[in-house]
Amino acid sequence: MNIKFEYQPTASDMVILSAHSKNEKVSLNTKSKDIKATFESAKSKTSFKASKGETFTLQNDGTTFLIVGMGDKTKFKSECLRRTFGKVFRSLRSKELNSVSIDALSFKGKFDSVSTCELIYETVLLSDYVFDKYKKTKSDNKIKNLTIFIDDKKLKAKVQKSTERVFNTCESINITRDLVNEAPNVLHSEEYAKIVEKDAKKNLKGVKVKILNKSMIKKEKMGLFLSVNAGSAKEPRLVHLSYTPKKVTKKTKHVALVGKGITFDTGGYSLKPGSSMVGMKFDMGGSATLYGAFRAAVLNNSPYKIDCVLAMTDNAVNSEATTPDSIVRGRKGITVEILNTDAEGRLILADALDYASDLGPDEIIDAATLTGACLVALGTQVCAILGNDNKLISSLKKSAAAQNEYIWELPIIDEWRDDMKSKIADLKNIGSTRYAGTATAAAFLENFIGKDIAWAHLDIAGVCDSQSHLSYCNPKGASGLMVRSVAHYLLNEK
Ligand code: BES
Ligand code: ZN
Ligand code: ZN
Repeated sequence: MNIKFEYQPTASDMVILSAHSKNEKVSLNTKSKDIKATFESAKSKTSFKASKGETFTLQNDGTTFLIVGMGDKTKFKSECLRRTFGKVFRSLRSKELNSVSIDALSFKGKFDSVSTCELIYETVLLSDYVFDKYKKTKSDNKIKNLTIFIDDKKLKAKVQKSTERVFNTCESINITRDLVNEAPNVLHSEEYAKIVEKDAKKNLKGVKVKILNKSMIKKEKMGLFLSVNAGSAKEPRLVHLSYTPKKVTKKTKHVALVGKGITFDTGGYSLKPGSSMVGMKFDMGGSATLYGAFRAAVLNNSPYKIDCVLAMTDNAVNSEATTPDSIVRGRKGITVEILNTDAEGRLILADALDYASDLGPDEIIDAATLTGACLVALGTQVCAILGNDNKLISSLKKSAAAQNEYIWELPIIDEWRDDMKSKIADLKNIGSTRYAGTATAAAFLENFIGKDIAWAHLDIAGVCDSQSHLSYCNPKGASGLMVRSVAHYLLNEK
């Protein structure tokens, strides 16, 4: 599908417009008197109410007009636009259409013109994603040419600039989705590091790429990370990407991102039951999400200095694998009694957080599919946030709200901090009950954050996978959620 922006009407097979309803009255959002008249006469013969997402087709002069209801336009929020338009766009993908034109400003509602165009473009790019590389029959988009028609020439320069930004973010989200959806026999740690290295070197100019292999990770004394890798047929990888903005002063904020990259989580010796193991290829979702956000932030010229640290290994079992009851020393010198090898994410993050702390950042944001308890607490649609700094947490919450992504804070209390202490080592890797599992995991991580560093932890266990209620996400597979929120934060956007 070719996508282009036009500032004057062009002939198309199909034109997409919107209609809204107010006090039972339906009106079509177009300047064209001709179409309005055809609509008025056709509408009386149907029950079309222009309610949110309702569609209506009209023929006029050989063109099909697809009219999308947006309900009361004063109540139409940006997320409504993503969801209703995403649904319409997804349903059109399978139709053999030579040219489709979207009258972007018809969807303006109470938004400003530029954000309307951005939202339409974003929805198209996100809804067009499929993961079909292993299918003989591809689900290619059959629309040949898509025009986003913007009926206001004065907007041209502004729209061009902002759509570039939208493209960078959506392309990054789709890369996150590809990484998470990839099969674990293909995307093991060594391959994962190579793919990220290749993409960063090709597309992220000026970004430094450092990849630590097993012997370098040993030199770093990352015993906890290595203990998770012990049962693996592959080497671990620590990918470290650094970005420095063009203008740096003493005041330039330095953010470190740390992602959990478990390419498959069997649970190790504390083996997961078969049915809970399926889907655990997504256990590298934290690292893929932060790579996506980092990528978008770099391409869109973030004002911050950003380090992105991704810890990659699978959590597998062989005769070398770490057994429960093992006591292991991490990079920071802290010893951990490993009572459950399935609580492995916090072990690799511990060493990665300590490594990131030594880079001297002002802030650390980590992301991980860390706990099943997160799904119990917040379901599959809400991301958990925990940390040690209210300002950072509230800024991330604001970014999520601006992007219509759900995020909810959970507390870390002293009782849970105490609960993570071991009788025979400094810490243990599970709490003594199964309650508050998301927070006890965060209470464990907190020990590895350097002094005076603001820290926020995102548990994306619920939101990383299938979001079938969101039309702009594939109904099955990686959602790519939270990339937008973190990128928004890293770009200091309003
Ligand atoms: N990767 C899982 C977390 C997970 C589980 C995410 C289910 C999504 C769905 C993590 O490594 C894990 O297994 N955590 C354990 C921790 C427990 C042993 C304290 C869990 O949540 O059961
Ligand atoms: Zn696990
Ligand atoms: Zn895991």
